[in-house]
Amino acid sequence: MRRKLIAGNWKMNELKSEGLQLAQAVFEKCGNRNLPFDVLICPPMSLLGLVADLPHGACGIGSQDVAETTKASGAFTGDVSAVMVKDLGATHAIVGHSERRTMHGETDAVVRQKAENAIQAGLTAVICIGETEAERESGDALNVVSRQIKGSVPAIATAENCVIAYEPVWAIGTGKTPTTADVAEVHTAVRAELQKLLGAEIADEMRILYGGSVKPGNAKELLAVENVDGALIGGASLKIADFWGIAETQL
Ligand code: PGA
Repeated sequence: MRRKLIAGNWKMNELKSEGLQLAQAVFEKCGNRNLPFDVLICPPMSLLGLVADLPHGACGIGSQDVAETTKASGAFTGDVSAVMVKDLGATHAIVGHSERRTMHGETDAVVRQKAENAIQAGLTAVICIGETEAERESGDALNVVSRQIKGSVPAIATAENCVIAYEPVWAIGTGKTPTTADVAEVHTAVRAELQKLLGAEIADEMRILYGGSVKPGNAKELLAVENVDGALIGGASLKIADFWGIAETQL
C-alpha cells in the first residue's frame, strides 16, 4: 500500500524569518495527528539546518540537491555533500530537478550519481524526470521519461530510499497541467520501466509523484489518477493556505 507523499519544493525562496515561519506553520498543521499521508518540505540549503532544528514530528525535510562527488568532504567549493545534508537532520534530497538539468546541464548520469550519494548517506532520493514541451508535442514524452528512468535511477534504489517525481517541464510554474489521461499514461509507463529496472516487488511499492502547477483546485483530481502517489509542489508550497489546501484534499 503506497502512502501518498505531499512534498513542497521551495526552490530559491524565503529569507530566514519568513522561511522559519512557513516551516513552523507546516509543522503545526502536521501536529501529532495521524495523517493518512506523508509530508515533506524542501527549503533552500541556507535554511535546511535551521528548519531541521525545529521540532518537526514526522514531517520530512529535504535538500533540493546534493553534490555529485562521492566524497563526503573535500575541495569542492560551493558544493554540499549528501553526508552534510544528512548531518543537518534532513531525511530526503531532491535530485535531477528540471531546473538543475537545464540550468546546470545535469545529465542522467550526474543525476544517478547524486541519487546514489543521497541513498548511501541515508537519505531518500526524490528523482525528478519529465519531458519538455517540444518533446511532448513531437510525441516523444514516453520515450524521454523511460530513458530518464533508465539513466537516472541507481541500481540500489528501493521503495524506501527512492521516490520518483514526474514533472513535465512545460507544466512547471506555468499554470498548465497535462490531462489526467496523459498523467495516467506517463505514470503507468514509469512504473513499467521501474519494474524492468528494479523488479516488480520494488517497483510496485515505489512512490511516483506528479509535479507541475499543482494547486488546491486541481490536486484532488490529479492525486486520484492511477499510479499518482503524491505531489511535488513548487509555487503553491510557499503559502501555507495553498500547501495545506492541497494536503487537505487527501483527508
Ligand atoms: P510548480 O513547481 O508547482 O511551481 O509548478 C513544481 C516543481 O518545480 O517542483
